[in-house]
Amino acid sequence: MGRYWHPFADMAAVEAAGELVVASGDGAYVVDESGRRYLDAAAGLWYCNVGHGRAELAEAAAEQIRRLAAYSTFGDIGVRPALALAERLAAIAPVPDSRVFLTSGGSDSVDTAVKLVRRYWQLLGRPDKTVVVSRRHAYHGMHVAGTSLSGIPVNRQGYGTLLGETVQVPWDSVSELAAVLDAVGPERVAAFFVEPVIGAGGVFPPPAGYLEGTEKVCRDRDVLLVVDEVITGYGRIGGSWFASHRFGLQPDVVTGAKGVTSGYLPLGTVLVGPRVAEPFWRSGTGQWRHGYTYSGHATACAVALANLDLVEAEGLLAAAARLESDLDRHLESLEQHPLVQEVRRGTGALAAVQLDPAALAADPGLPNQVVLALRHQGVLTRALATGALQISPSFVTTEADVRFLAEAIRAALDDVASTRG
Ligand SMILES: Cc1ncc(COP(=O)(O)O)c(C=O)c1O
Repeated sequence: MGRYWHPFADMAAVEAAGELVVASGDGAYVVDESGRRYLDAAAGLWYCNVGHGRAELAEAAAEQIRRLAAYSTFGDIGVRPALALAERLAAIAPVPDSRVFLTSGGSDSVDTAVKLVRRYWQLLGRPDKTVVVSRRHAYHGMHVAGTSLSGIPVNRQGYGTLLGETVQVPWDSVSELAAVLDAVGPERVAAFFVEPVIGAGGVFPPPAGYLEGTEKVCRDRDVLLVVDEVITGYGRIGGSWFASHRFGLQPDVVTGAKGVTSGYLPLGTVLVGPRVAEPFWRSGTGQWRHGYTYSGHATACAVALANLDLVEAEGLLAAAARLESDLDRHLESLEQHPLVQEVRRGTGALAAVQLDPAALAADPGLPNQVVLALRHQGVLTRALATGALQISPSFVTTEADVRFLAEAIRAALDDVASTRG
């Protein structure tokens, strides 16, 4: 019996079927312990933007570890890689003059953002503005704050009372957001949290005008806008560093993680616009009693800097934009397959092959069957909450790889369809 407790796993099923042990990686591909090679269609978990096995990042980590692996940055102590990363991220942030708070991952960043927006209003003498609004299908990580904002009901169940003063709105309607804010009372609402493209909840690109419309609704009601770019940030949206750039948003807070290091080391980011930062940085406010042991971890920051260098030097923002059209072109015809409802795509290096709802209702095990059949075709990915296949390849994935991916998905669907009779 193994001892490793897998996240998001049915451990009895894992024990019964055994594990797939991924042993190495190279570019857009990974290899398991038995030597089988797979196209990594998920980039790990939406993070491995520069591809696997990059010696530049190994060297950046080794050099920093030899000098100083880490030192706490609480209070007035700094480490050079964290200070340099803050400057670098501020320079590419959607909002000029942003400040940079660092964490260990996306859930930390969301937790930090929830505390930040509530405390912001308290510092402004408006302690009743505490309600945080999120969308159906939303995924904001698995800390208690993110779980409380989750728009995926199964992710919230079984924990008793979660964080109070949270409200959900439909994922796609500006007017319903406005109506809910007005019903709750804008004087009670701290912030609206929005993923530019809903990711783990099923890859739902925003309806045309949605993000711009919600920003206006928030501005008109003095509600802060928190854009959760844990997936879309650092290039995955294609053509720009952040979805906020692509959609012309000026968020008050931007949460990030994943692509900032391409997952080589865990690191989360919170980019805080000057409006929200001001009362915290003002003389006389005093200490904000918030932070993590690994906030500003020197080696994680050194790797992030080297990763951003790679993205720039290799033109990977443009590569992600090219992948958007490759995915569009090559995955579209999967919509003709009887087991597929639709292929959601068109906003960055992100897509989802949504399995047919009637087939899912008849057999809830269908997504896992397709995932396993895909492994036999040499593609590694997973199923999302709606019963869709996650497609979020690394930016070094070529058009030939995408063609292979589409053929492999079709073959896997055919395999599964044939066993269903
Ligand atoms: C939009 C979004 N926010 C937050 C998180 C949580 O990040 P982490 O798993 O690094 O804690 C995720 C993870 O996928 C995410 O997609």
